[in-house]
Amino acid sequence: MRVIALLMAAGSGTRFGAASPKQYLPLLGRPVLRHAAEALLADGLVEAILPVVPAGQEAQVGAMLDGLPCLPPVAGGDSRQQSVQAGLRALAAAAPDAVLVHDAARPILPAGTVTALVEALKTHPGAIPAQPVTDTLKAGSGGVIDRTVPRAGLFRAQTPQAFRFAALLQAHRDATSEATDDASLLEAAGLPVALLPGSESNIKVTYPEDLVRAEAALLPRLL
Ligand code: CTP
Ligand code: MG
Repeated sequence: MRVIALLMAAGSGTRFGAASPKQYLPLLGRPVLRHAAEALLADGLVEAILPVVPAGQEAQVGAMLDGLPCLPPVAGGDSRQQSVQAGLRALAAAAPDAVLVHDAARPILPAGTVTALVEALKTHPGAIPAQPVTDTLKAGSGGVIDRTVPRAGLFRAQTPQAFRFAALLQAHRDATSEATDDASLLEAAGLPVALLPGSESNIKVTYPEDLVRAEAALLPRLL
């Protein structure tokens, strides 16, 4: 199976609040997005990475990924969904069997994650890693709790999310609203998406403290 990964790096990191996008920041001396790319490649199943980046920053990101098997970076859009669509358009000619969509802001993946996702595509058109919700969930408005939401059967979706290429392409073409992940689009099309175990070390860098946590998680590997 030919697998290509989209490395989603076209966001501006407004919640993080740094001068440059969070995926460019150094983590143990290497950009966050380079960690993410290397993690995708570690299982040896991904043939190439297609970085989707802010318009005008193609060369800058290409340099950060120097030496890795990457296709030329393409410019993303205003929303994550538009950025994924830009990546899928650029892949149309290559027409891989499977595509992984991964947040460049997730620098750590346990070994075997990509292997398990690709394996799941033999039986499902899509597969994602997800962690069970552990906090008690409240629905609220105006600063007051309305009710408690039962957390049984609820998961936090992570990336990389894996799809048969044709299924994801079609789901994006049919999308009628903005989604924050790609699995939602397959769900909307009524296609089954496998839920695989995620990992607490698969940290998404959203706020500055997440970068500190990521560093703490990676440091033991250096010792
Ligand atoms: N992303 C993207 N294109 C966008 C928005 C987001 O490629 N228009 C990417 C980000 O670069 C990130 C991933 O999607 O790697 C997850 O998005 P998120 O964590 O929300 O990052 P940002 O949108 O950059 O951050 P914020 O929402 O705080 O601005
Ligand atoms: Mg965002």
